[in-house]
Amino acid sequence: MKHIDTLRWAGQADGHLELIDQTLLPVELTEIACRDIETVWEAIKMLRVRGAPAIGIAAAYGVCVGMKTAADANEETFFTRLAEVTDYLAGSRPTAVNLFWALDRMKAKAQSLRGQQSPGEILAALLDEARAIHEEDRRMCRAMGRHGATLLEDGQGVLTHCNAGGLATADYGTALGVIFAAVESGKRLKVYADETRPLLQGARLTAWELKQRGIDVTVICDSMAAQVMREGRVQAVITGADRIAANGDAANKIGTYGLAVVAAAHKIPFYVAAPSSTFDLSLPEGGAIPIEQRDPREITHGFGRQTAPEGVNVYNPAFDVTPARLIEALICEHGLIRPVTTERIAQVVGSPR
Ligand code: MRU
Repeated sequence: MKHIDTLRWAGQADGHLELIDQTLLPVELTEIACRDIETVWEAIKMLRVRGAPAIGIAAAYGVCVGMKTAADANEETFFTRLAEVTDYLAGSRPTAVNLFWALDRMKAKAQSLRGQQSPGEILAALLDEARAIHEEDRRMCRAMGRHGATLLEDGQGVLTHCNAGGLATADYGTALGVIFAAVESGKRLKVYADETRPLLQGARLTAWELKQRGIDVTVICDSMAAQVMREGRVQAVITGADRIAANGDAANKIGTYGLAVVAAAHKIPFYVAAPSSTFDLSLPEGGAIPIEQRDPREITHGFGRQTAPEGVNVYNPAFDVTPARLIEALICEHGLIRPVTTERIAQVVGSPR
């Protein structure tokens, strides 16, 4: 299968972050160089890099980009700068907990070396930590793929929403990783990709990735999912997640909740694949997950064409929360979580942070 380098660090501690500009896909496969912290922030905010795990990895490397100028500073200035850089990156997007998880990890790494190493040495250790976060995500995706593939059967139709593939992670993906692993094990699947209004991550990114890997994919408008299920074309639904609360309520791209309701009405199992870095066990249930509100123009002027009257009221939440009771199983790198309960999640993913 083709390998997609969603993002990578170029050079040593004084290097920079390179990432695929996902806003240009599927027409152009172009990388952009992020040499300053403002470019990293803008890339996350504008979804040039997107998908919960990839946002976390970009933020980790973003810390290294932002700290380069402090390599020769004294310790106090270095840690003041670290607080500024991590606060700034934390303000880019609110829902995917991987962003905050990665920033906390970077801060903890630096703190553990305070007073023992020079700022230059701490910066080198921060780059190692970002690389470790990147590499661990690669391994978690493969493990989720192996566990999740057991849920899919040869000949099934599988519906997915948004993009939870290699582009949304270090590579391989969460929900799409499960599909890739099932196909690699010899199962023939027919994948339906919701186009995913308003920014079309399904049509632009998921369809592109699946075609790149030679997998049978059919794009449908989001509003067609119920009819496609009624026609008996889909036997399983699988999505990723941006934040999963302690009880299993899962935030994901807007439209996911509706899909889970429709799947339940058709008695079709609904699965969510996400690494442990996407679980937020500090939140007891999904109502506490912050939902990003985005620019109304994404709806009224999407892709350069006005499609609604100027000045019309628009509501544009980027995510919704699917209640745990609608999720047949969670798939994480440690295995399957089924039934989806607070107790099972605590057993498999660990105790609250
Ligand atoms: O707004 P996006 O494109 O960042 O939203 C992404 C999603 O909702 C994905 O499904 C989720 O992050 C899982 S990615 C493995």
